[in-house]
Amino acid sequence: MARKPFIAGNWKMNMTAESGKALIAELKPLVKEAKCNIALCVPAILIPAMVKAAKGSKIKIGAQNVHWAASGAYTGEISCEQLKEYGVKYAIIGHSERRQYFGETDEGVNKRTLAALENDITPIVCVGETLSERENGETENVLSRQLENGLKSVEDITKVVIAYEPVWAIGTGKTATDEQAQETIKFIRKKLGKLFGVKNANRVVIQYGGSMNAKNCKGLMAQPDIDGGLIGGASLKTDFAIIVNYNK
Ligand code: 13P
Repeated sequence: MARKPFIAGNWKMNMTAESGKALIAELKPLVKEAKCNIALCVPAILIPAMVKAAKGSKIKIGAQNVHWAASGAYTGEISCEQLKEYGVKYAIIGHSERRQYFGETDEGVNKRTLAALENDITPIVCVGETLSERENGETENVLSRQLENGLKSVEDITKVVIAYEPVWAIGTGKTATDEQAQETIKFIRKKLGKLFGVKNANRVVIQYGGSMNAKNCKGLMAQPDIDGGLIGGASLKTDFAIIVNYNK
């Protein structure tokens, strides 16, 4: 079965209800003919308003994190049930900014991923190396560790989306070359094959993320193992529609 391309935006801590609604209204007609799955992962407080704004379009609204517990004393966190109440279908998990600034660990990523899967929320699990790790030749070790620990006990890997986001390419304007991204994502698929079987690994949607934009999306999407993109900055403007329509 061919993998369906998936372009997702990550608004991070940007936009307001007003500017978000305006952008989605602009995007709606522009993404009408798109052949890929589309999501916008928005700040939690904007989820209800953005779900309403995106209604009747191909844009699904996702979250930027999710907690593993069903409920309880976890100040500042959000549960799967709370997300599902608004029809949220996707949640980014283990973004490098969560790992870097908020102490997110592989173990936490694993717990969040398992909870999302249990609740029919598709986890977009982020992995990626820092610049020094790449320069020291540690990329494959780092990715292996993140995948092994982050995906422990996952029963059906085909229900997980992986986003390969090299930390040095995020928000820097320094995109991985098509070849670098393809080579690393091919490695990720091979690793998933070892962990979950080659047949399953060949069905996993793997995105590239890190300064992906309206100009470089075509080249990246043409790579055989790259099935989509996780878009930061360029998802805050109508450029997002150009990326969604990369094959036009
Ligand atoms: P940029 O596209 O702004 O580099 O961000 C990528 C990213 O982190 C998406 O999750």
